[in-house]
Amino acid sequence: MSRPRLVVTRRLPVPVLERIRAEFEAIVPDTDLDAGMALAAIRRIRADALLLTPKLRLDADFIASLPDHLRVAATCSAGFDHIDVAAARARGLVVTNTPDVLTEATADLAFLLILAAARRAGEYAAIMRAGWRRSFGLDEMLGVDVSGRTLGILGMGRIGQAVARRARGFNMPILYCNRRRLPPDLEQGARYFADLHAMLPHCQILSLHAPASGDTEGLMNADAFARLPRGAIFVNTARGTLVDEEALIDALRSGHLFAAGLDVFRREPDFDRRLAELPNLILTPHVASATLETRTAMGFRALDNIAAVCTGQTPRDPLWP
Ligand code: DGY
Repeated sequence: MSRPRLVVTRRLPVPVLERIRAEFEAIVPDTDLDAGMALAAIRRIRADALLLTPKLRLDADFIASLPDHLRVAATCSAGFDHIDVAAARARGLVVTNTPDVLTEATADLAFLLILAAARRAGEYAAIMRAGWRRSFGLDEMLGVDVSGRTLGILGMGRIGQAVARRARGFNMPILYCNRRRLPPDLEQGARYFADLHAMLPHCQILSLHAPASGDTEGLMNADAFARLPRGAIFVNTARGTLVDEEALIDALRSGHLFAAGLDVFRREPDFDRRLAELPNLILTPHVASATLETRTAMGFRALDNIAAVCTGQTPRDPLWP
């Protein structure tokens, strides 16, 4: 039997590449493929499958231009806001994602940002790189405790729950806002709010874990930031579209927020450089899943999904049944 034909749009960890070489006839790029390049590659090898990431938008136009031989698009991500699901469904394209395997790494990075923002890690690192040379008084350059602070979690799916598990180790009271209330065994004492605006005034730290959608677009706007208590910490490892960055900049400049941490931005990688000038904002370049183990697991999960579709089986992670 001939091997399935696959186009990959971005570089992948070595173990994933080795499996691709062993099991597929594939085009794997050295640099990212844009939509035109991906389409040309799909046509060139009459690809059955596309392995992509959120950097490539699978919009209605792109989906309409796909040749019939392309059967499956597997995004190497949990999020799929870059995919026009309705158009893919109508075209009969199977689309899969890679949930579960990045839960712990993403929660780790959210917690890293919480700790870094509270304890001014970005400012301390900058001081050391500049040579230090002056001791600080005991009242200077102070952060705030994370232990015991109340944490609000917006979006209590797998990643939100993993952040809550970490927070319990820091004795943090946990509040959460989610479309549905969790059963008590998953809630583990966290307090549920159906309404985000009702939760915000109680959050000394707020961490976002909701997907990008019409419902969450610009959710953290000037009004929402104003509802957080003065001195709150804000962290986003979900999607940049949840945040009005202008309002965030204002809240950080005015001191209403003590600090913030962002892994995701409205524009990536060409993010708003004014954010990088704020000393009380720690930034990472959309790397929540960027560990060797997790990126390898994501790549393998995407390949499992592709292999299933190419052998006539049901993939593990279809975006719709
Ligand atoms: C995800 O998996 O959705 C990560 O944010 C990578 O885009």
